Amino acid sequence: MNAPDPAVVSPMPHVMNTYGRLPIALSHGRGCWVWDSEGRKYLDGLGGIAVNTLGHAHPKLVPALQEKLAAKLCEISGLDAVFFCSTGLEANEAALKIARKYGHDRGVERPEIIVYEGAFHGRSIATLSATANPKVQAGFGPLVEGFVRVPLNDLAAVERVARENPNVVAVFLETIQGEGGIHPSRWDYLQGLRQLCDQQHWLLMLDEVQCGIGRTGKWFAHQWAGIRPDVMPLAKGLGSGVPVGAVVVGPKAKNVLGPGNHGTTFGGNPLAMRAGVETLRIMVEDGVMENAATVGAALKAGLERELKGVAGVVEVRGQGLMLGIELDRPCGVLLQRAAEAGLMLSVTADKVIRLVPPLILSVDEAAMIVAILCPLIRAFLAEGA
Ligand SMILES: Cc1ncc(COP(=O)(O)O)c(C=O)c1O
Repeated sequence: MNAPDPAVVSPMPHVMNTYGRLPIALSHGRGCWVWDSEGRKYLDGLGGIAVNTLGHAHPKLVPALQEKLAAKLCEISGLDAVFFCSTGLEANEAALKIARKYGHDRGVERPEIIVYEGAFHGRSIATLSATANPKVQAGFGPLVEGFVRVPLNDLAAVERVARENPNVVAVFLETIQGEGGIHPSRWDYLQGLRQLCDQQHWLLMLDEVQCGIGRTGKWFAHQWAGIRPDVMPLAKGLGSGVPVGAVVVGPKAKNVLGPGNHGTTFGGNPLAMRAGVETLRIMVEDGVMENAATVGAALKAGLERELKGVAGVVEVRGQGLMLGIELDRPCGVLLQRAAEAGLMLSVTADKVIRLVPPLILSVDEAAMIVAILCPLIRAFLAEGA
């Protein structure tokens, strides 16, 4: 290989000029060999400047880390196998592909998936089509077809679809809707869905991207209902800030995708896997999930106590440290006011103040949230509609 002429090295105007760069974009490696984006192969005499002890994509290191996290996710969910990716929407895309392929494998040519009013599943074309929020969809049509929408917690509506639509192959919902305004599925509703899915040979796919990984006080929110899904997309909390996504599947879905059916470049990378393994390990070691349950209950009780009987407060709801306070009017201005008072929060579905703090929140910090937030809510509501 000829040494490149530094004069023709393409500049990167937004990256600080601290390195003499070669005009080479390396795309991947294996062992002591690396490849550039044009397919040229190089023997790696650099090793990331003496970093890469085991070479690139070591066949023991990468699978060992992937297997460690996958095995832990299977252990805590009671499910069988995992596909790793990097974000929530990617996990949901994989779930949707599993559902369609599951349908095709069973001879359903145009498989359809039951989705929900109030749902949020991401912002790719398929996941925004499964999402119910018109603001998320506006400007991005035509939407992906093959979704049938029903209201949450209405089993009769799903039974009606079962009677009328032979193309349905799966039910796809957030165990607790997050972006839609913290709407929990009733536990008896989830049990009913589980039964119906078994009778109909449908996949039950529970999006636990927001409510999973200990947030509600159990590893997964559906565990409160004592059921297991067939497909469970995860992301957000799994890497505690490092991007990690996963789809965890049970026996019905385990062998639906085969070699070549799905893939991703960064899914299962060593950093992501280590972040996932350590997040789950620390959660167990430090009792983080139990903390989410007890502090979440204290926070909810404090909010209910302070907001009881306040005109304009519709409901305080949620589980563990996934709580929503619904008001009878849009309350986006509270974001700014809370920030000025030293509290970060979000307002979702226009009227719902959402609290999804770190799961290590202490009882004292929960009391501080109540002390800052409730007077702001009362003052806001007193201003009139
Ligand atoms: C329930 C749910 N599913 C999927 C997503 C999408 O995840 P991501 O933003 O990582 O693509 C979100 C994000 O808010 C979510 O709350």
